[in-house]
Amino acid sequence: MGYWGGKVGPDLTSIGQIRTERDLLEAVVYPSASFVRSFEPVIVDIRDNEEYSGGVANDTTDELALITGADTKARVARKDIAEMRPGTVSVMPSGLADQFSKQELADLLTFLKNTQWGAP
Ligand code: HEM
Repeated sequence: MGYWGGKVGPDLTSIGQIRTERDLLEAVVYPSASFVRSFEPVIVDIRDNEEYSGGVANDTTDELALITGADTKARVARKDIAEMRPGTVSVMPSGLADQFSKQELADLLTFLKNTQWGAP
């Protein structure tokens, strides 16, 4: 939350200023309906048939770093990449909202829409 925890998704500290409640609801309930720019998932096929899916954290001539989960990263050498294509599933897990009551979901949206966390 805020500046605590990992750095997996976009900065949410003032997200309410640039997104409507409807957009925020969609982001939480259907994470894969649309992707925030520069957080689009990619699928990377490795020569030995392994496959990774994630967001690109770092892209250099030698290596690609992928964010694959809340605290998991994958580092792939460029020379081992057979193919790279856009993914369709967000790194953000679906089903998060299932654990909230309607009231809790409403509270969460109000929080996202109205809170501005200060700098650390
Ligand atoms: C209840 C917990 C969470 C809330 C309220 C939340 C909220 C959001 C919101 C509002 C956005 C869209 C931001 C925008 O429109 O600019 C977003 C995107 C994203 N979130 Fe989450 N998130 C949660 C949990 C997570 C978790 C657990 C992960 C990863 C393990 C994650 C990863 C991401 C990523 C990678 C994106 C950008 C890609 C996309 O647009 O799908 N989030 N999140």
